[in-house]
Amino acid sequence: MITVPVELGDRAYPVMVGAGARHELASVLADVLPGAGRAAIVTQEGIPVTVDPGLPFEVHTVPDGEGVKSLATVEQLCRAFARTGLSRADVVVAVGGGVVTDLAGFAAASFHRGTAYVNVPTTLLGQVDAAIGGKTGVNLPEGKNLVGAFWQPKAVLCDSEVLSTLPPREWTSGRGEMAKYAFLTGGGAERVGSPDASLLDLTLPEQVARCVAIKAEVVAADEHEGGRRMVLNYGHTLAHALEAARFEDGGRPDLRHGEAVAVGLLFAALLARRLDRIDDERVELHRTVIAGFDLSSELPPGSRAATLVEFMARDKKAHHDLTFVLDGPVGPEAVRGVAVSDVLATLAAMGADQHGADR
Ligand code: GLY
Repeated sequence: MITVPVELGDRAYPVMVGAGARHELASVLADVLPGAGRAAIVTQEGIPVTVDPGLPFEVHTVPDGEGVKSLATVEQLCRAFARTGLSRADVVVAVGGGVVTDLAGFAAASFHRGTAYVNVPTTLLGQVDAAIGGKTGVNLPEGKNLVGAFWQPKAVLCDSEVLSTLPPREWTSGRGEMAKYAFLTGGGAERVGSPDASLLDLTLPEQVARCVAIKAEVVAADEHEGGRRMVLNYGHTLAHALEAARFEDGGRPDLRHGEAVAVGLLFAALLARRLDRIDDERVELHRTVIAGFDLSSELPPGSRAATLVEFMARDKKAHHDLTFVLDGPVGPEAVRGVAVSDVLATLAAMGADQHGADR
């Protein structure tokens, strides 16, 4: 088992990575929450993972789909917690993908104004990203993740065994986030796995642990996303646009989050090259890593440059101008004020439809 600490002072917590990590739940709870007398396990239909918290517990199973990430479900969960007598000294355990850890984490943040929670992420995407970092929340009809809280878990258990049942596209999606980490660095991350091996050469638990170590270092340096933490959005500005966009013919790209991130990574590399921030070799490295994780970096058919720019400008992380996380001499960093013409030219180089792009 590899344990990666998230160093956040009195909110510090361990992330345990390895085969069978979920079986550590009871001993981890006894260690980090010795006063807890009851657990509320929140999971989702179709997740074939059970856990034993070593305490009296109830299981709250929400329906499948992203639609449950709502204030209505938070109310239902908190009412169910109250009916079972869950107190502020007790614990919520989230068992599932990013939908479950975001939802249960926010319910925990709200219940009794803050109840402890532990994440047991069951997807690769959850293990390398969604379950770590303390951003919890739900969607509104007006947009994703518009209501939430920073509320750190007390521990995260990333069990490699539970990934064996993941559908192929869930793997692909997780690998898209992993590819992002190949371009980020975090203090101490090189200690996880073989120090000199690239992310691609490590075993799966080592890959997960190295991604976690990078994320942990970034989160510890900037818990509330005041600056540095934005690097975790590398590849995400175009990815979010691809996930949200509907093109003129009504077509919608059929991409999972990590698949969209893979396309966004190559786009960011080509944009950085256009702005002379990196050289051709570094662009090639992006292609190699993306392909090495068995991902496609092609824009989906029918992608319209003008539509994508419109959605990128709307991205809440884009502030008031076109902002991208772009690679450069010191690695990826936020770059503000990128000209629309450079973005359009980069999308054109990736084969986007230019119709309406000159408006
Ligand atoms: N929950 C994901 C994050 O904090 O980044």
